Parts: sequence; structure tokens; C-alpha cells
Amino acid sequence: MQDKHCVRFLQSVLPQLQMRWPGFRKVRKQVCKRIHRRISELELSDVDAYQHYLQTHVNEWPILDHLCRVTVSRFYRDKVVLEHVRTEVLPELSKSAIDAGNTTLRGWSAGCAMGEEAYSLVLIWNETVGKQFPQLDIEVIGSDIDEVLLQRASRACYSYGSVKALPEAWLNSAFTQNINEYCLETRIRNKVSFFKLDIRDKLIKGPFHIVFCRNMAFTYFEYALQLEMLEHIRNNLVDGGALIIGGHESLPEGFSGFEQWSKQRAIFRKTRVNSE
Ligand SMILES: C[S@@+](CC[C@H](N)C(=O)[O-])C[C@H]1O[C@@H](n2cnc3c(N)ncnc32)[C@H](O)[C@@H]1O
Repeated sequence: MQDKHCVRFLQSVLPQLQMRWPGFRKVRKQVCKRIHRRISELELSDVDAYQHYLQTHVNEWPILDHLCRVTVSRFYRDKVVLEHVRTEVLPELSKSAIDAGNTTLRGWSAGCAMGEEAYSLVLIWNETVGKQFPQLDIEVIGSDIDEVLLQRASRACYSYGSVKALPEAWLNSAFTQNINEYCLETRIRNKVSFFKLDIRDKLIKGPFHIVFCRNMAFTYFEYALQLEMLEHIRNNLVDGGALIIGGHESLPEGFSGFEQWSKQRAIFRKTRVNSE
């Protein structure tokens, strides 16, 4: 299948999945390869025939949706951002949580893939910040649409490539190293609960102190859905709570209710109602 035919196909079908083409520009090769494979499986002649097939087979849409999913992740992704979370964001959130009488800091990783992001947050807490705030603990929810990824998240064993950005001391203290994988200790795993959820249909209720929504909604979702997602996150964050987006992402134009955290373009603070 020629690139231009696949691009034209994606531009035409993505809006029906509430997704947008620009997010797929860089990753289209892998998505087009999967679509090409599906066309062969169905013994169709080309992408136009597949488009026609979609019009007559409503059950094919969820399959196409699955083919369009990008699931890459790793521990401590966007290191500079996570370092800022460690040194600035979590300590500030912890102080406010204690002042508000909370005993648990609550986090949500929306689109958590195999749990790398959710566990990175717990690692930051356990290995560093939490030691300054012994009266607080952390609880993280990871949600994703993909059941297979979630099963692997619960197993919590990873290749070296996936964990290599973590400080070596954390690798030694929080993982057991098997032949070719690093498995997280139960005490870290127990702080994360995973849920299967398509966030286009159903959302998780907070309140959360910190939400990670990276490399999903603000890259792949259409504008209206991005705004909806942002509104939901805002409604489920405590006042002053933090939203972390991907290092190459930005919030949808015209957003409100958040301000940038220091000069970090990937970290936002929920503004209090009376400061808007
Ligand atoms: C590229 S990964 C990002 C993982 C992690 N947030 C990160 O930045 O490293 C995107 C994840 O979003 C999930 N996803 C895509 N569409 C979704 C939806 N509608 N509802 C929930 N999860 C979704 C995918 O299954 C995938 O695991």
C-alpha cells in the first residue's frame, strides 16, 4: 500500500473514531503496516475496498480502532519533566495534602500502557519524596483501553530497554533482576490498581492530586474530545493539583482552568476558581 493512499484513508476514517490525523503523521508507518496486514487477512484488493468494507461491516470499526493504537512507553519517560515532578511538584502537592488533612496522595495515569508511568510515580515517591513526608502515602490508578497491556502491567516485569532511564540505585532497590527482565517488588506493585477503560466512553472519578495524561488524548484525539478530557481531568483534580502532559504535546487551544507550573511546558496546575 502506498503511503499517500494510507494517509488519505487515515484522514478519512480517524474522525469517525474521534481521532485526528496530525497525531498520526509520525507513527503512520506502523499503523499503515497493520492496516495493510488486515486488508490481506480479509483478502481485499486495496485500501479503497477496505473503506467500502467498513461501510458495510459495523463490527470492523473496533478492529480498526485497535489497529490505530500506539502503545510505546517506558519508565521515566521525559526525564526532565519527571525530575521536576520529583523536586518541585510532588513536594508542593504533599505539603498541601497534609494541610488539607489527607493521608494519601492520589495519582492517575490515563492511558498507562504497561504501567511504566504509574509505577514511575510510585518509584519517585518511594525512593525519594515520600521519605520527607512519612505521614503521607501514595495510591495510583492506571487505566488503559487494552486488556493485554493491563495484564502485563499487573505482572510488572520489563526489559532493560524499558527501565534503563531509572537511576541505578532504584533498579537495585525496587526490582528483582531475572535473566532478561526486571520485575518490580510487590511493595511497589501494591500501590497501583489497574482498570480497563476507554476514556472516550467512561472516565475515572477522583479527586486526584496528580494526573498523567501523556501521549494519548492530546496527540491522537480530536479537538472536541481533548477539551472534554481536559474538563474531566480538571473536575477530578484537587485545587492546585497537577496535570502532566507529554513533552511534545500542548493543551488544546482555548483551554481554561489550568496554568503552567513554573516554566515547565508539560506541567500544569489546576487554578482555583477565584483566581481565574
Ligand atoms: C503511546 S501510549 C502512552 C503511554 C504513557 N502514557 C506514556 O506516555 O508513556 C498510549 C496509550 O493509550 C492507550 N489508549 C489509546 N486510546 C485509548 C482510549 N480511548 N482509552 C484509554 N486508553 C487508550 C493505548 O492503549 C496506549 O497504551
